[in-house]
Amino acid sequence: MEQQIITIPGSDWQQDHGAAKADYLSALEAGKVLYFPQLAFTLAEDERRFLTPDIRDPKSRNISLNADRSLKGAQADAVTQAALAAMIARFRGQATGLINTLAPRYAKHVRLAPTSFRPSQVEGRAQSWRADDRRLHVDAFPSRPNYGERILRVFANIHPQGQPRVWRVGEPFEAIAERFLPRTKAYSRWQAQLLRTLHVTKSLRSEYDHLMLQIHDGMKADADYQRDAPQVTMPFAAGSVWICFSDQTAHAVMSGQFMIEQTLHLPAAQQYDQQSHPLAILQRLTGRSLS
Ligand code: SIN
Ligand code: FE
Repeated sequence: MEQQIITIPGSDWQQDHGAAKADYLSALEAGKVLYFPQLAFTLAEDERRFLTPDIRDPKSRNISLNADRSLKGAQADAVTQAALAAMIARFRGQATGLINTLAPRYAKHVRLAPTSFRPSQVEGRAQSWRADDRRLHVDAFPSRPNYGERILRVFANIHPQGQPRVWRVGEPFEAIAERFLPRTKAYSRWQAQLLRTLHVTKSLRSEYDHLMLQIHDGMKADADYQRDAPQVTMPFAAGSVWICFSDQTAHAVMSGQFMIEQTLHLPAAQQYDQQSHPLAILQRLTGRSLS
């Protein structure tokens, strides 16, 4: 398998990558992971107290800072929560700055999703197979149809004792689609309308969203695929950052603790390459318009 992880030197969030930038962008849009081993999200001395799983409300999976700066999922007094929100907001600023510098064309068009802080250990999280991110998958969300809008994510490992966050990264999206499309159930518009009426989905699930969910589920449910698919195991070091389009890059998180992450949504039409995104690939393979 072609190399799926591109390592980029530099410790500056606003670094000018010069002539290499075009290559990085085409790798990113081809579904590869851009890995910045020397780029660290640094905590102030006083913020190290947030590096404990106890800061998370056990009823929530993650701590998240919404676009309106409200904090969800934390368990602490108001002053502590405000300081935690400020730390997460600082990461949001650095992560969006990184994307704006690397991909200026995206800057005007990205829509911020909540910023998420995950202080819990990945291993030992009991989950249904469908929710289990330790299985290789591409991101697709059952309740939020996106019609081909991209899911771009910036991850930072902020483990204080050097524990890596270990991922598996799988084969290119086109190969995945070729493998799983023949097994997908046909799209049904009336079923999509029913799901919307029942508020299972927030808007009408398009054929694109239907296929992406089927591919997500198909990958996770297939134990042989999980074991035998082309893949690399990648330990993302403590004090590093990595970026990928997680609706395209096959990924699984195997171990680690203390990660902070920013999701950005980008209209597929604003990409540099109009042939490489999942909507284009699925439309090419099915011969139909899907959104
Ligand atoms: C995921 O998107 O599957 C989770 C990634 C992580 O927690 O590192
Ligand atoms: Fe995922």
